[in-house]
Amino acid sequence: MRAHLILALCLHLCSKAATEKCQLKHKGGNREFPANFSFGASTAAYQIEGAWNEDGKGLSIWDTYTHTNPERIRDRTNGDAAAESYHRFEQDLVALKELKVNFYRFSFSWPRLLPNADTTVINQKGIDYYNMMIDKLLANNIEPMVTMFHCDLPDALNKFGGFTNDIIIKYFHYYAEFLYETFGDRVKKWITFNEPFDYCVLGYGRAYFPPLVHSPGVADYLCMDNTLRAHAAAYRAYKAKYFSAQGGKVGITISSRFYYNQQNGGDESIVERAMQYSLGWLANPIFGKTGNYPQLILDDIWNNSMREGLSWSRLPAFDEFWSKVIKGSGDFLGLNYYTSRYAELADPADGEIPSWEYDSQLQYSVDEKWKQGKSDWLYCVPQGLEDILKWIRDHYDNVEVFVTENGWSDNGQLEDSERVDYLQAHLQAVLNAVNDGCNVTHYSHWSLIDNFEWNMGYTQKFGLFYLNLTSPNKERIAKKSARYYSSVIESGKIILS
Ligand code: BGC
Repeated sequence: MRAHLILALCLHLCSKAATEKCQLKHKGGNREFPANFSFGASTAAYQIEGAWNEDGKGLSIWDTYTHTNPERIRDRTNGDAAAESYHRFEQDLVALKELKVNFYRFSFSWPRLLPNADTTVINQKGIDYYNMMIDKLLANNIEPMVTMFHCDLPDALNKFGGFTNDIIIKYFHYYAEFLYETFGDRVKKWITFNEPFDYCVLGYGRAYFPPLVHSPGVADYLCMDNTLRAHAAAYRAYKAKYFSAQGGKVGITISSRFYYNQQNGGDESIVERAMQYSLGWLANPIFGKTGNYPQLILDDIWNNSMREGLSWSRLPAFDEFWSKVIKGSGDFLGLNYYTSRYAELADPADGEIPSWEYDSQLQYSVDEKWKQGKSDWLYCVPQGLEDILKWIRDHYDNVEVFVTENGWSDNGQLEDSERVDYLQAHLQAVLNAVNDGCNVTHYSHWSLIDNFEWNMGYTQKFGLFYLNLTSPNKERIAKKSARYYSSVIESGKIILS
């Protein structure tokens, strides 16, 4: 027994010892970022604003979900108060100024502006709040980059199917037009949706996020399909009616890992399969050549659907009309990159039938050398960021890329040396990619301040600034990583920590 314990302890320590420091080497070329490279920090409304029922705000699915299912949140908390940014934007602004960021990426709460989701009620107090933010940012030389939708779907829309009802295309289109009209004189960078894969697969496939629909391989695909069409409708409206006067850019933010193949000796076709099933699913229709889903996915899902006894595919290709509308509907690709995986073919396919896991026929693993964050899914793989940027360069005609999120979780300590390492290594990945001809122009770190981490509540912290949740003033206190990041922004080069 004792020998067993000693062996187990040794194995544990040995595997720990095998973990490598999170770092990446300079691969030659410039040591400085291009002069016009832009640095920022990101947040999202539900995760920081609080004031969930104040000043005419309507409910979002995250309000309803956290109130009716408190047990689903790790520490039984919610975003009712969060960082109180609705009342404390001045404190966020101080943090942004301290960082010396060029831009701030934040999201509008759709139900704070349009409590019924449509324009029957327009909430002036919501407009006033975002106007105040935008004006103060601009007065301080910080560019606003606005996400129109970051998880907090108006409850009003959820009542009749949310993203599975294609009427969301119309609702989102008019929400977007309302935003362009109200804020577009000052906001020049718009992101329609944040991470559709995540809110679709987690919300409509695996029932892990609201609206807790368990319909893998069907409703999650429908959600992504409607999202792509809603995105394109909003993009086209901007080009047709607002661009000539406002001159801004509209894009979408997609999350993806990069994938490596190990067991088959680096089989490129498996890497390609894994990339098409993640980034390609949403990026190919917009930035690819066909204006449609990757052919590989269309074929797989058609074949699986027939095998399952259906008379149609669970993922129909876009028809000619939609294909034309969607193709090219992005001035930039927003990329959220956190981590990577090894991918292998799963034979037979894993997962429920049907499901994304089953259709993709892949299984994933991690390297024991990769350092792990507080989140169980987060490993430090900076090389993956460099490689995914090159993959985008090669597959999508070197479209302009904004890295809209990238970050590390821990317990929230001020001496966050692991976050400094992570940040330094990922900035190096971006610089390496730039030096290799990738058209990456913006990098934004997740997150400005510690905030509500969805089902994990406040148990995992991503902030450059510590948030004192229990103090009445909710102070934002710079961590070591905030000081490090500001020194990079100020000098335009990667300082070695
Ligand atoms: C999301 C954020 C989230 C972060 C860390 C991203 O997927 O956009 O809202 O807090 O990852 O999990």
